[in-house]
Amino acid sequence: MDTLASVPLAPGSVPFLGHVLAIARDPMGFVVSLPARGDLVWLRLGPHPVLMVCHPELTRQVLVDDRTFDKGGPLLDLGRELLGDGLATCPYSQHRRQRRLCQPAFHSDRLQTYTAAMTSAAEAAADSWQDGQVLDIGNEMSALTLRIAVETMFSVTMPPQIIRNIVDDLGTVLNGTFLQMVRPEILNRMPTGGNRAYHRALSRLRGTVAEVIEDRRTTATDYGDLLSALLSAHDPDSSTASTMTARELADQVLTFFVAGAETTASALTWALYQLSQHAEIQDRVHAEVDTNVSRAATPFDRLPLLDLTTRVVTETLRLHTPAWMVTRITTAETTLAGIPLPAGTSIGYSPRLIHHRPDLYEEPERFDPDRWPDAHRDRTAFLPFGSGARKCIGERFAQTEAALVLAAIAARWTLEPVAHPPARLALKDVLIPPGLLMRVSPRRAAHSPHAPRTA
Ligand code: HEM
Repeated sequence: MDTLASVPLAPGSVPFLGHVLAIARDPMGFVVSLPARGDLVWLRLGPHPVLMVCHPELTRQVLVDDRTFDKGGPLLDLGRELLGDGLATCPYSQHRRQRRLCQPAFHSDRLQTYTAAMTSAAEAAADSWQDGQVLDIGNEMSALTLRIAVETMFSVTMPPQIIRNIVDDLGTVLNGTFLQMVRPEILNRMPTGGNRAYHRALSRLRGTVAEVIEDRRTTATDYGDLLSALLSAHDPDSSTASTMTARELADQVLTFFVAGAETTASALTWALYQLSQHAEIQDRVHAEVDTNVSRAATPFDRLPLLDLTTRVVTETLRLHTPAWMVTRITTAETTLAGIPLPAGTSIGYSPRLIHHRPDLYEEPERFDPDRWPDAHRDRTAFLPFGSGARKCIGERFAQTEAALVLAAIAARWTLEPVAHPPARLALKDVLIPPGLLMRVSPRRAAHSPHAPRTA
């Protein structure tokens, strides 16, 4: 019988750091190269050995058995420090209850309300751009998705200054979290300006979120936002705690911000870049938006009319999958690919790696929205949002947001890169390519009914 000792070690490991340097230099190239080594491959993240699953069917096995392959492993432990035991980080023992409590916030009828906030924020951002302006499009999309995250969570009933504070603090925390995750622990505890700013922002953010929650717990009004849904959630199956405590609510709010904003910003940034590189697809998106957007009564009604725009999002999530490595930990002895695994084995899976397998996708490095819906979009081959019980709760929210934001931009502007993203992205730039500067030009008025007026 095969044993764990027979599993190959990925190349590029160095003493003490393991594969950290190889991953830091070129994380995408690194994960995508792993299946050539085997269906299971050992990685070393510093002192932590991680068994990387490189085959779609084995990945599915890990994801459907969330009791045995529980949330855990080195990357998740760091997430827990920030998010506590929110939905994305809590162990199996708490998950079903939390998921039942959070699920109503993402029902279709509520999504309909969120689409209005998504569209008005996207239109306001796009309307603020000037003809010929050069934008750092990654920063622009991060600011926009953070604003949408805050406004759909708390609705616009909040004083604008509080919304601004939350958006600012979240930006600082998201940048800082990344650094905290990749560098040695000792550097995180040093009293540097960056560390102080991170901790100040995190504590103000937690404080503001706690105050808003406290305030809102005393009113029974449903504002139609995510927080109202979380506050009114009841879990009939729970004998002891059928609603969320203030601490649980705060963890969920931060979880949704952290899990939802940068991921969606990444998808939007890459989608805009890919459109700028594929003029024919861009023209078709423009035509789709021009023909259909004004026919729809509400932003929610636009979605079924945005077929190509939605496929652009889907293809971007395949090619530039934000989730490139996720970890689990075995909670009992089990087997995978016939190999016995002891409890406490760290496991890694990568939606990105699966999406680049040439046996699943023809010419996987090519951006081609027309491969959908024919490409096998099943739960094994296409998993930008994970799979099984821990699948992303914000999947529809994110797809809807990305399509509506793209449509709002495509209705007004054509974007053209001033500089291209580097061919190899370093770990710190893995989600959003840094300094991706794009120049905006108004759509020709004759073609677009939404084109901005030029002075
Ligand atoms: C394009 C955007 C997004 C991508 C690519 C994405 C990706 C993912 C992935 C891969 C997982 C599963 C992680 C695992 O297996 O451990 C996940 C889980 C999760 N995501 Fe997302 N996500 C996105 C947007 C969002 C949004 C907008 C929200 C909330 C508003 C959100 C909230 C969550 C939560 C709470 C979980 C944990 C679910 C659970 O364990 O029950 N995500 N996401």
